[in-house]
Amino acid sequence: MKPFLTDAQIQQLADQHGSPLLVLDCACLEDQYKSLKSALPGVDFFYAVKAFPNDAVINTLKQLGSGFDLASLGEIEQVRQHRVNPRNTIHTHPIKKDKDIRDALRFGCTTFVIDNIEELKKFRKYRHRVGLLLRVSFRGTTAKVDLSRKFGCAADEALHLIHRAKQMGIHIKGLSFHVGSQSATPDAHVDAIKHCIDIISTSDVPLNTLDIGGGFPVNYDGNTLDIDTFCAPIREALKSVPNDINIIAEPGRFLVAPAVMTISSVVGKAQRSGTTWYYIDDGVYGSFSGRIYDHAQYPIRTLKTGNEQSCVLAGPTCDSIDVIEEDITLPELEVGDLVIAEMMGAYTAATSTDFNSLERATLIVINENQEHIKSNSTRDDLQQDTIIQPVTILNIH
Ligand SMILES: Cc1ncc(COP(=O)(O)O)c(C=O)c1O
Repeated sequence: MKPFLTDAQIQQLADQHGSPLLVLDCACLEDQYKSLKSALPGVDFFYAVKAFPNDAVINTLKQLGSGFDLASLGEIEQVRQHRVNPRNTIHTHPIKKDKDIRDALRFGCTTFVIDNIEELKKFRKYRHRVGLLLRVSFRGTTAKVDLSRKFGCAADEALHLIHRAKQMGIHIKGLSFHVGSQSATPDAHVDAIKHCIDIISTSDVPLNTLDIGGGFPVNYDGNTLDIDTFCAPIREALKSVPNDINIIAEPGRFLVAPAVMTISSVVGKAQRSGTTWYYIDDGVYGSFSGRIYDHAQYPIRTLKTGNEQSCVLAGPTCDSIDVIEEDITLPELEVGDLVIAEMMGAYTAATSTDFNSLERATLIVINENQEHIKSNSTRDDLQQDTIIQPVTILNIH
């Protein structure tokens, strides 16, 4: 994928704002949304806010017609600030406190996910106000991040739970699954869809929703299937879903990952055991937190050319775990040179910290549709302490 900033624009941003920077391109976000939409026609999207909880992302996706997948009061508050219609939200955390349920209901979100009997019981007192999705576990063996070990009932428990819900007067309206994030192949999605069709056709309660989760991959390594090819077997499998079932998905990574790049600077350089170590001003406690939590490896480059050699790229904190790459090939760098990482939007800034009291990267938002913001709300209306907020909104073409 072509970088959304030229090298000259990257240098200009660093000169103007310093480093480390995160740059979010709303035009790229829009392209990602549209390409997933065309790969999965007829599927309604609920963006998984946790992937990159940011106002410009919510604003852009809301304008494109996306709904939102929420899992906490913080995420509810963030979409509330954007006047997102609660009917376009689903609460997907399978394990909730009673207060979590009340907070979501107070907002107006009435679709929740459960995956076990204890969770079902929590909805007895709200049974007239909710429709539940039963999350079923299908473990995708090719996913980078397994999300079906911690959550989801076994497929052979599903009919029993649906029946128990009926006995309690609670409406289970459909099924959901998440085969794992960054799936290498669509096989797990296809398999899960087939199992869900079986459950839907044998359930004594009519179900009207199938939520196929996330897991749609992005191209970190240059070897990932393009989204249309990845989704082709999923489209085929979805043809067998009965026509009266609404099909929805909760994409996170695919929408935001390519829309963000980071710009950091070399702040130190040392020779250790015959290898050059470069220390930059962002690391695994910062925007590169996904190296640890998300098992992701990001495409990293510099603006320099010349002979490349193997080196270590380390972050700015005092902790020895703060190493971004142990063996990366880069041209010879000097203090002050810029290091660029692409595909940095998913589960990066969202899980960053300010360990060592180091400031997190500054977010620069480009190509956001500001007309819409002006006509609906001002930046001052928006909550100031939401997680990833920009200092600057620029239009770069
Ligand atoms: C419930 C749920 N839905 C959706 C997502 C987004 O998944 P992805 O980023 O793979 O699209 C996640 C990721 O953790 C999740 O837990």
